[in-house]
Amino acid sequence: MSYRAGMENPVDPVAPVPWSLLPPNAGLNDEGGLTVGGVSVAELAAQFGTPVFIYDEAHLRARCEEAVAAFGPGVAFASKSFWCVAMAKIASAAGMSIDVSTSGEMAVALAAGIDPERLRFHGNNKSVAELAAALEVGVGRIIIDSADEIARLETLAAATGVTPKVWIRVTPGVHAHTHAFVQTGQEDSKFGFSVASGAAAAAVAEIQTTGLLNLVGIHAHIGSQVFNLENFAQAASVVAAFFTPLGLAELCLGGGLGEAYVAGESAPSIAAWAASTIDALHDAGVAPDVEITAEPGRSIVARAGITVYTVGTIKNLPGLRTYAAVDGGMSDNPRPVLYGSGYETFLVRAPKAERPRSIRLVGKHCESGDVLVESGWVPDDLHVGDLLATPVTGAYGYSMASNYNRVGRPPVVFVENGSARLVLRRETDQDLLALEV
Ligand code: LLP
Repeated sequence: MSYRAGMENPVDPVAPVPWSLLPPNAGLNDEGGLTVGGVSVAELAAQFGTPVFIYDEAHLRARCEEAVAAFGPGVAFASKSFWCVAMAKIASAAGMSIDVSTSGEMAVALAAGIDPERLRFHGNNKSVAELAAALEVGVGRIIIDSADEIARLETLAAATGVTPKVWIRVTPGVHAHTHAFVQTGQEDSKFGFSVASGAAAAAVAEIQTTGLLNLVGIHAHIGSQVFNLENFAQAASVVAAFFTPLGLAELCLGGGLGEAYVAGESAPSIAAWAASTIDALHDAGVAPDVEITAEPGRSIVARAGITVYTVGTIKNLPGLRTYAAVDGGMSDNPRPVLYGSGYETFLVRAPKAERPRSIRLVGKHCESGDVLVESGWVPDDLHVGDLLATPVTGAYGYSMASNYNRVGRPPVVFVENGSARLVLRRETDQDLLALEV
């Protein structure tokens, strides 16, 4: 199953980029060029250079608020999807808790002044140092993923006298309809304890016997970029059957709600996802006073972001194809290479223009796999020096960016109400050299 599972509508490749893929506060200036948050994107590119990530800040805030309205304040932002102090402040101000899965993600949350009680510490191989740090700062919940981790955390708890509140992560044995790399709810997984094999029950028994950890909840996460709400409902019924006899107070069904990336795709809203998941849990016997939460990442940040590049070369190979190369690539968006993910592209100076010309949008890295858009469509007059944008790059773009070929990561700019603010500056050659000893 590919990432195209949300594809519903027939696609006309010549049509302009679907406006629904752009940040909600996108618009047009007097010349017909793209604006986001009331700011000209061409001007942002001139000011901050390209490539650049541009985020619709009002949309980030609105999505966080939508999640809190749907699930309540226990809902956590999955920081792995896009994380920096500015984002942390937005999620926290909207009332979200935060899912962190490394000490690095935790450090950003703490730097943003987030109360550690509102952090949930995830990860299938947390180090002793990470667990010790989590206890020391007092993170709200530690989500236990393995028998080794139980032993590790019990040793730390005994040594420090701290009794941390923990959840156990279980695998419900459900195959989410998404790319294999991001399926996590199936039996054959590095994550969590299997419900079917009895490993989850054994983990509960171990924790309750020693009394060194305070088990308050159960967690499950079936995968990412899931469009079909039925997948979540299936997981809900398996998890509910395991959870209910335990008499615990907290239940989290993870993240994973899909997002539309290309023409023809459509995704359920956060509200619809919450309603169907919560209904499925209640139908399966979860008591009304149980705190049901989730951990959305992609659905909060994906559509808020676009990446803007400058076209540097256009190479027409007669009878084959046209390659348009831009000044970024797999270092700022590895998702096409990793998962075969599809993206759209469009001209910043003419986002409403028809796109009759077929191109392959590639980056500047030294390998043929460095593809951003395998089958892109652009206006006929695309030329060197044009700004091309890819929409829906707000999730798992910056957060998975690399320094391949010693390319510095792009800056991140938030825009709202006609003004822009730089929240992460561009990484320079000096930054990269600063690591040399
Ligand atoms: N909770 C847990 C425990 C997770 O592992 C994840 C994502 C989430 C929540 C958030 O899931 P979301 O709502 O963002 O789907 N790099 C991949 C996605 C990896 C997701 C990893 N875990 C991609 O670019 O598609």
